[in-house]
This record gives sequence, C-alpha cells and structure tokens, in this order.
Amino acid sequence: MKLPNHSTLALLLLPTLTTAQSQNRFPTLQLSADPAFNFQLLTALGIATTSGSDITPVLSAAQDIIPSNRSSYSEEFRRLAYATKAQAEDPALAYDPVNVRDTWFAVSNYFRQADTYIRGDWEDPRIAEYWIEQTAAFDNAIAALAVPGERVRIEPTEGNFTIEAIWYGGSKDAAARLPTLIVGNGYDAAQEDSYHNYVAPALARGWNAITYEGPGQPTVRRNSGAGFIPNWETVVNPVVDWVLAEKSSVVDETRLTLVGNSFGGYLAARAAAFEPRLAATVLIGGVWDSYTAIAGQYDPEIVAIYEAGNYTQFDEAMLSGAESGEFETTSAWMLEHGLWAFATHSPAELFTVGKAFTIADVVHQIDHPVFVGDAELENYYAGQAQRVADALGEKATYHMFNGSAAYHCQTGAGHELSRTIFAWLNQTLY
Ligand SMILES: *[C@@H]1O[C@H](CO)[C@@H](O)[C@H](O)[C@H]1NC(C)=O
Ligand SMILES: *[C@@H]1O[C@H](CO)[C@@H](O)[C@H](O)[C@H]1NC(C)=O
Ligand SMILES: *[C@@H]1O[C@H](CO)[C@@H](O)[C@H](O)[C@H]1NC(C)=O
Ligand SMILES: *[C@@H]1O[C@H](CO)[C@@H](O)[C@H](O)[C@H]1NC(C)=O
Ligand SMILES: *[C@@H]1O[C@H](CO)[C@@H](O)[C@H](O)[C@H]1NC(C)=O
Repeated sequence: MKLPNHSTLALLLLPTLTTAQSQNRFPTLQLSADPAFNFQLLTALGIATTSGSDITPVLSAAQDIIPSNRSSYSEEFRRLAYATKAQAEDPALAYDPVNVRDTWFAVSNYFRQADTYIRGDWEDPRIAEYWIEQTAAFDNAIAALAVPGERVRIEPTEGNFTIEAIWYGGSKDAAARLPTLIVGNGYDAAQEDSYHNYVAPALARGWNAITYEGPGQPTVRRNSGAGFIPNWETVVNPVVDWVLAEKSSVVDETRLTLVGNSFGGYLAARAAAFEPRLAATVLIGGVWDSYTAIAGQYDPEIVAIYEAGNYTQFDEAMLSGAESGEFETTSAWMLEHGLWAFATHSPAELFTVGKAFTIADVVHQIDHPVFVGDAELENYYAGQAQRVADALGEKATYHMFNGSAAYHCQTGAGHELSRTIFAWLNQTLY
C-alpha cells in the first residue's frame, strides 16, 4: 500500500476545503478531491452499517484513486473485489453463515463500485463480467440470511422486458402478516444496493420487503436491452400484483409502502399516481422532473445548442466533452451512464426523452400519504422536493435532511435515514 504524500494531499485538498468551509458545502471529511468520487466512496462506505463493505478496505481504495480518473476508480475496486472474493471462498472462513453473508455482500458491492464508471463503450466486457460477479456474490449472501432472499422474475402485462425482483420475508413465522416495503432505485443504482439502504433496516424492524428493477436499471437493461420508460406504473403494478398473489398469507395488505430512491423519487411518484393499493409512499427525495436535473449538469452554452435544435452539433459537443476529460466526473458519468440506461447513443435523444419524466400531470392523482425527503446538499434535484410537497398539499410530509445527512439520498447517514422513515411510517400507518 502506498503511503500518502502529505505535501501533494495538502496541495490538492487545502484550496478546496477552505472554500468549502466558508460556504458550508462539505459537512464531512472529503474522501477524494474529486467531489463525484467523494460521494461515490461515501455510498460504498455508508453501507458498511448493513454489511455492504468494511471501512478500511474502502478507505484504502480511496487513497489510491486518482481524482478525475474514472478508470482508476474502477480499477481500485476491481482489485478490492477480487481480493475480497478470495477471502469469501476460503473454506477456513466459509464454514460460518455470518462470514459467508457479510463477506459476499461486500464482494458484491465492490464489484458494483467497479462497474460505476465504465459506460464509455457499451461493448466493454467488464460491463458483463462485473455484473455476473456482483449477482453471484449477492446470491451467496442472501442465501445466508435468517430467511433467505428469493429472486423473482415478473412478466409485465405490457412492455418488452422482464421485471427483476428479490423478495425478503420478514419472519420465519408463516402466519405473521407484516407490513411490506416495495423498494425501487433510480438512474444507476441496483436493487442489490436497495438491500443495504432499505431492506436490512426494514427486516430489523419486523417488515417484509421486495426490491425490483425495471427498464433502464442495471439487470433489466442488461437482460432485456430496454431503456428507461416514463410510465413506471407498468413496472410497479405487476410487482404489487405479485406480492398480493404470491405472498398474501404473510403480507398485511393494508400497509403496503412504496419507496423510491434518487431518480426513483420520480419513478415511485409516477407509479403511486396509478396504484391505489398503496398505503404510503416514501420519496428519497422528491423529484418533479428529470430534464432540469440532467440539463443542469452541463454548461448553459452547450444546453443552448440543444434548445436551438442543432442536435448534430450538440451530440458532438457532449460526447467529446465526456471523452476528452473536459467535463467534470459527475457530468461525464451522468451522460455516459444515461445514454446506456436510456438505450440511446444520442445525447440529444437522452435530453428529449428525459422531458417526459415529470410528475406535473399526475401528481394530483396520488391518494395516500407521501414522505417527501429533501437534502440540503441536493446536487441533482435542488428545490424539486419542495415543489412535490407543495403539489401534494396535506398528503405530503416534507423533511429536510441537513448537517452530515445532507448529501443526496442521505448517503453515509443510513441510520438517520432509516429512523426518520420508520418513525414516519409508524405515525402514518398505525
Ligand atoms: C488513470 O488510471 C488508470 C488506471 O489506474 C491508469 O492506468 C492511468 O495511467 C491513469 N491516467 C492518468 C491520466 O492518470
Ligand atoms: C424486445 O426486446 C428484444 C431483446 O432486446 C428485441 O430483440 C426485440 O426486437 C424487442 N421487441 C420489440 C417489439 O421491441
Ligand atoms: C449545426 O452546427 C453545425 C456545426 O457547428 C453547423 O455546421 C450547422 O450548420 C448547424 N446546423 C444548423 C441547422 O444550424
Ligand atoms: C442546514 O445547516 C446549515 C449549517 O448548520 C445551516 O446554515 C442551514 O440553515 C441549515 N438548513 C436548513 C434547511 O435547516
Ligand atoms: C409505533 O409507535 C408506538 C409508540 O408511539 C409503539 O408503541 C408501537 O409499538 C409502534 N408500532 C410499530 C409497529 O412500530
């Protein structure tokens, strides 16, 4: 392991921190001089609280990741993932289901981290390799839960894709009818991430949970080739059908709760408008529309080219910005990942399709209580949660997360997030 070069670190960090402190921008010690990597590393580290990682291995990878170098982020996590996999496979350790569960959960997360910044070339073999690894590792882990997790594939009534889901029973008692969380992620994260952020906290509090992925999300995008669709009820309705048909003996059907994380704040709100069987919806955080969030990541001069309708010039400017290193990590990632997730090679098409992802026309149809989370440091959907809450009126409970829980989706503050959500659910559903 390399020792940090203190003079280099000081040069990299000091100017940033001084500005940051004066603006109150960073509530935590930065794990990278690159704010995108800092955030991503916090997500990797944050799920240590539910066995998704271990602290010093992540900090050690963080130390070797070169700011702005997306290959180095992937490479350091690839190394950590394979090293941890070797430990998971060691028969001297694998005798114990707790070792198995915790080690494979971490292996799975490290492969997902390695997968984060490799969408520049859709033919890159690592896109398949790391996903096969993360899935197999995760399956080993959930087989070792007290009630083993159960992978489920659900065919929707419309659409050219298969929903991928994982059911987590909350009790070994076959007669217990428990409240049930239905959890969907957003633009990039996987249902395996949802286990750590929402399912483990739900199981600990006596809930069942099911996570799901639809078009555009990591496993469905790989298996069906389908990109994101705005009419997300075509994904959630079949998941609710499945829960009520297959798990009715263990589900309290008066307390079905939908959760949407990140861009899933849009997806869940959209589905909630078409799903009367839900008792509550939780948005972490509130999303009004996707277009302003995507467009807001780029230089107004580039966005103006799109708005003026010169799509050839726009595509060229965007693609070269991401590839040349001219864009900051977040902007480059958002474009490359977005093109893949929306299954288009054209940034202009990504922007145009993105305009359909707004709840403006359907928000009034939501007929149940909604927790609308907001974050003081929200970097994609700033101001949108308040707008969602205002439109919902008395159906909304608006909550601003601040201080060290102020990052997008409360990354790194999983306990604060969970206790806030479940306290609200207790008040709302009981
Ligand atoms: C970026 O990281 C990769 C992988 O670690 C490395 O091979 C490459 O030299 C780095 N590039 C720069 C410009 O530092
Ligand atoms: C459905 O998806 C498959 C797999 O990507 C593709 O081959 C097929 O053409 C699609 N069909 C329609 C009707 O879009
Ligand atoms: C679009 O931009 C390109 C490159 O700058 C330019 O050659 C072309 O004339 C523009 N097209 C229109 C319709 O403005
Ligand atoms: C969040 O915390 C900061 C720093 O303590 C404070 O300045 C700000 O007013 C707080 N924001 C909210 C919405 O509470
Ligand atoms: C809800 O909170 C009350 C205290 O206000 C507690 O007695 C009760 O057990 C809680 N119920 C659940 C299901 O968490």
